[in-house]
Amino acid sequence: MSVASEVKTGFEFKPGLEGVPATLSSISYVDGKQGILEYRGIPIEEVALKSSFVETSYLLIWGELPTQAELAEFEHEIRYHRRIKYRIRDMMKCFPETGHPMDALQASAAALGLFYSRRALDDPAYIRAATVRLLAKIPTMVAAFQMMRNGNDPIQPRDDLDYSANFLYMLTEREPDELAARVFDVCLILHAEHTINASTFSARVTASTLTDPYAVVASAVGTLAGPLHGGANEEVIDMLEEIGSVENVRAYVDKCVAGKSKIMGFGHRVYKVKDPRATILQSLVEQLFAKFGSDKYYDIALELEKVVAEKLGHKGIYANVDFYSGLVYRKLGIPTDLFTPIFAIARVAGWVAHWKEQLGENRIYRPTQIYTGSHNAPYIDMESR
Ligand code: CMC
Repeated sequence: MSVASEVKTGFEFKPGLEGVPATLSSISYVDGKQGILEYRGIPIEEVALKSSFVETSYLLIWGELPTQAELAEFEHEIRYHRRIKYRIRDMMKCFPETGHPMDALQASAAALGLFYSRRALDDPAYIRAATVRLLAKIPTMVAAFQMMRNGNDPIQPRDDLDYSANFLYMLTEREPDELAARVFDVCLILHAEHTINASTFSARVTASTLTDPYAVVASAVGTLAGPLHGGANEEVIDMLEEIGSVENVRAYVDKCVAGKSKIMGFGHRVYKVKDPRATILQSLVEQLFAKFGSDKYYDIALELEKVVAEKLGHKGIYANVDFYSGLVYRKLGIPTDLFTPIFAIARVAGWVAHWKEQLGENRIYRPTQIYTGSHNAPYIDMESR
């Protein structure tokens, strides 16, 4: 981009739109210098300690903590809608088992729009039904693909289990340990919402066209899949495996710093201190390890965090949410390529909250660009090219 075009248009181009407000929102708040995250004004530490994922979703989507009766009704609706149509299941059966589960999820989420095609965006009953369907069915679709790609029939959801216990049950056909289910539920709370990140921005842009909420979530799933966003938690585990031992950490960091390559699970556009979600996740990892035994990758992770702080702390590069979440899921026996789909299961709450907020004061997103090409260029005939 030439300076001339900047001057001519009067716009300052900010790569990645860094610092450019893209919306007004009252859903969540981040202070990246102090490491503060709030959901509807409530500190994340309080929400993680006291709430469930379903209650957190209600808070994010409807703006207030539910009463006991409101929560019971919301939970009941979600339990009732967990099953997926057999045609969706059959469609998923045709997906290649070598495909990434995020791609399977994106296609399946979009397919919901075929089955629930009514688009009544000004009808609160429609908004509620779509919200419930998305929260209820996305975990079932993730678990169904996991079973089917291994040649097994999907496991039917169990209405008597709560949200997280049911998801873990659908992955293994075993009722999960109580601590494991609670830790998993807190992971979902921590990933539920995070202001206007890339996938949420994608959700809001899609929502602003007044398309259906399944297209909104499908577009956000596609955006979350990238390694600079939700895909980082999978890459953290690959990286810890590659490092292999505590002794190798320093050399690995030195190599990355010298080669200017990114260390996965570190750095954040907004946080310039340790991500508060990473701090909470670290304590969950410790609870799991205390009950189920430790993991050599945790020792590598601790050393890595120390060395990265030493070498890159001056640039504000510290552990982000993805650094410890992979260790939690690994301890729960979840395959690495399901980590990002699990992030998506959680983030549906935030995406739906933003969809609803976008509809409230909608104006279609249509930013501008700074043109850097030529003008009045000659059309060169085929034989002369
Ligand atoms: N390792 C080493 N150096 C880093 C890292 C890292 N993980 N992250 C940023 N830096 C350096 C970068 O090299 C650059 O240095 P310099 O100014 O000398 O060129 C400086 O910090 C700024 O980096 P940037 O890429 O311009 O920062 P950004 O705000 O565009 O990117 C980020 C933010 C999260 C994409 C980036 O930190 C990153 O790629 N991290 C690794 C991937 C990751 O863990 N992603 C999960 C993010 S949290 C969950 C989510 O949002 O989904």
